[in-house]
Amino acid sequence: MRILIFGATGLLGKPLLREWSGDTVIGLGSRDADLRDARRVSDVTRETRPEWIVLAAAYTDVDGCESHPDLAFGVNRDGAVNVARAAKEMGARLVFLSSDYVFDGTKKTPYEAHDVRNPQSVYGRSKAEAEIRLLELMPDCCIVRTSWLFGTGGKCFPDTILKLAANRPALDVVNDQRGCPTYSVDLARALIQLCHKNARGIVHATNSGDCTWYEFAGEIVRGAGLATTVRPVSSQQMKRPAARPTYSVLSPESLRRFGIEMPSWRDALQRYLKERQG
Ligand SMILES: NC(=O)c1ccc[n+]([C@@H]2O[C@H](COP(=O)([O-])OP(=O)(O)OC[C@H]3O[C@@H](n4cnc5c(N)ncnc54)[C@H](OP(=O)(O)O)[C@@H]3O)[C@@H](O)[C@H]2O)c1
Repeated sequence: MRILIFGATGLLGKPLLREWSGDTVIGLGSRDADLRDARRVSDVTRETRPEWIVLAAAYTDVDGCESHPDLAFGVNRDGAVNVARAAKEMGARLVFLSSDYVFDGTKKTPYEAHDVRNPQSVYGRSKAEAEIRLLELMPDCCIVRTSWLFGTGGKCFPDTILKLAANRPALDVVNDQRGCPTYSVDLARALIQLCHKNARGIVHATNSGDCTWYEFAGEIVRGAGLATTVRPVSSQQMKRPAARPTYSVLSPESLRRFGIEMPSWRDALQRYLKERQG
């Protein structure tokens, strides 16, 4: 197969390029094609003639989206529409990366793929509106929602915690937001399988198990053998520009339908720590 990846320079894009074998894979960053430039997106798609497009490119700064909504909607929604139009023009299949932030976080049990969207932030709205537009344009597209992505080769929560923990005796971390950490390598492997299985529809793909950011930070610090104390605090005490869902655990049922199981986040974290050490 011929695969075109938008967002190949990002946290997910890098392991996607590394893990994908047996197919011809072309990876692009924002310098190769800005998603907001419909003409350029269409040209690179025509030149590369992909059978599958993986749309992993996005403006992912959740707090930055609050102060730059034009950029958020321009890249995350309108840019995604440009890619979907180019895919349709070429008869290529499309997998679009979306987020747990399309939900409001008021549920008490894991979110299923068919649960109602109710985003609480600009980033979440830009992703939710992209999902709706893409499903209208290309009913056979595949939308993969993931959450709390971490990996080497980019900014992520474990990296931030390890850098802070190296210089501080104690860290305050929020303990009232629960979600599923997801290792970029494991998500890349699941995405490759989904393309090979000709997947369509909305799929939730995260590492298995869930935790709060405080629990995640504790495991990171312990896993790295550091003595830093991690203290639980509330979201009220750590105000951020964008609202985050209190509970955004994604159910693995939609992924299981394709016969795919992802490892636990604790196992994934151990592999990340090893990879980070080099
Ligand atoms: N990170 C998370 O916790 C998380 C959680 C849920 C869902 N997701 C979704 O998962 C996907 C991958 O996220 P990630 O963490 O790998 O993102 P990332 O590390 O921030 O990388 C973003 C990628 O998008 C590209 N990009 C940004 N603006 C662009 C533009 N205007 N035109 C073309 N390309 C552009 C970047 O290219 P350059 O580097 O070349 O500028 C980079 O390759 C995204 O769709 C994201 O929304 C992420």
